[in-house]
Amino acid sequence: MGLLDKHSVLERNATLLLIFAFLVVTIGGIVEIAPLFYLENVIEDVEGVRPYTPLELTGRDVYIREGCYLCHSQMIRPMRDEVERYGHYSLAAESKYDHPFQWGSKRTGPDLARVGGRYSDAWHVDHLTNPQSVVPESVMPKYGFLSNRMIDGRYISDRLSTDAMVGVPYNSDMIENAKADFMAQADPDADTDGLLERYPNAVNVRNFDGRPGLSEMDALIAYLQVLGTMVDFSTFQPVASR
Ligand code: HEC
Repeated sequence: MGLLDKHSVLERNATLLLIFAFLVVTIGGIVEIAPLFYLENVIEDVEGVRPYTPLELTGRDVYIREGCYLCHSQMIRPMRDEVERYGHYSLAAESKYDHPFQWGSKRTGPDLARVGGRYSDAWHVDHLTNPQSVVPESVMPKYGFLSNRMIDGRYISDRLSTDAMVGVPYNSDMIENAKADFMAQADPDADTDGLLERYPNAVNVRNFDGRPGLSEMDALIAYLQVLGTMVDFSTFQPVASR
């Protein structure tokens, strides 16, 4: 009896076929999944990536609430046209503290993964208030109302604790001082030593919308200005080429 003849036994008995198919799929599944539990780290650590500051995190929540992701992705693919237009392709580590991810798949507008530092704060205020005033053919909606929605960081400690629960490394110092850090980042006259000590990298401190008081516009611009700026790509080397 050749191998094919033996196989015909399986082909003629549905129950036996089911049992063997199940075995094969189980073994295949274990081979693929089990190593992930034993790898020290599936996401390569990259220097510079830090959790969002309280103000940036608030801006990110505004971004999600307003559905910016419906028109903007935040993921630069490693292909030449994308890299030439948007900059270095996105690293997994750059979004490791994102809950939920904002990678997206729809680009009615450009990718925003590296928009930080590309425009001035004043440009963002003008653009968000009336996109057509700076890009006449733009189909982006107006978000000027964000300037009138004042925020006080009332729930920001709880917000950080929630992210800590899902693995973002906010420590008790960061959570306790969340409100102070939140206020300090948009106030150029504030004492920012604590803020800069807790978030040592790529923190912008200024009055983002240029108006008195702290509004959702400040928070959103603080978030946009940090996007893609945490990793220093002049010194970054992928593990494979080290
Ligand atoms: C209906 C789709 C749409 C929505 C929703 C939308 N945008 Fe846009 N966005 C665009 C388009 C189209 C452009 C390109 C033209 C322009 O600059 O206005 C753009 C451009 C931008 C730019 C400039 C990017 C660059 O590199 O030039 C930024 C920043 C931006 N949007 C932020 C936002 C934010 C923040 C939100 C949510 C508050 C948002 N957008 C919501 C369509 C959209």
